[in-house]
Amino acid sequence: MARLALIGGTGVYDPGMLKDIREETVATAYGLVDISLGSFQGVEVIFMQRHGRGHTVPPHKINYRANIWALKELGVTKVLAASAVGSLNKAMEPGHLVLLDQFIDFTKNRPFTFFDGEGGQVVHTDFTEPYCGDMRQAIQQAAGELNLPLHSHGCYVCVEGPRYETPAEIVAYHRLGGDVVGMTNVPEVVLAREAGLCYAVIAMVTNFAAGISPTPLTHTEVVEVMQANEKQMRSLVMAVLGRLNPDDSCQCSGTAAE
Ligand code: HPA
Repeated sequence: MARLALIGGTGVYDPGMLKDIREETVATAYGLVDISLGSFQGVEVIFMQRHGRGHTVPPHKINYRANIWALKELGVTKVLAASAVGSLNKAMEPGHLVLLDQFIDFTKNRPFTFFDGEGGQVVHTDFTEPYCGDMRQAIQQAAGELNLPLHSHGCYVCVEGPRYETPAEIVAYHRLGGDVVGMTNVPEVVLAREAGLCYAVIAMVTNFAAGISPTPLTHTEVVEVMQANEKQMRSLVMAVLGRLNPDDSCQCSGTAAE
């Protein structure tokens, strides 16, 4: 049976919106993954904590391949992800929601593909539209229905972390066209497409980025802003899950790894 998945990031730890929750550990060729499985309006939904249970895994150590492969093995077709981001765009303020549509990759040192040349297979995946267009439309419609303000476009700059950026880096990323910055969306988005899964992200701005913010950045601030705005993230996530049909197919499944 096809399923949906929700990947929660910093500040999004609560699978409580799901019914009949049970916990499982999934074994994949890339490692073990803890998930929760429940149902939402009759559809089975997997809830995964990107940083592991209890937020113990830093961004550069997350086993992204195991996470995405576990979802694929569990029969997931569509993945909705939540992410905390810093903003480089003055119009995108702390507390605002941003629907990502592009990314720029500045990560340095993470396993980032399922297509590692095994079996002499060389695969180059198209990323003209990195995030699922159908899911993005569902998110926009759900936000509109709930009257939640949502920036309908946003270019995500993914950095390696775990340190925050220097102000000079933020100026550079802004010049390159970035709107928000975070540490986890690459390779998550890349692997989802390589696995043939539909994938979209609702980003929550938790802070203005380094040099724009008047104060030094702290993880506590990021968590506090996520928690303060948890209700709107949660209501949007629930409205989106209610609109997604895991059996709908779309072109994201194009060049999937087997
Ligand atoms: N930089 C990188 N990652 C982040 C930030 C930031 O300012 N805020 C939340 N995640």
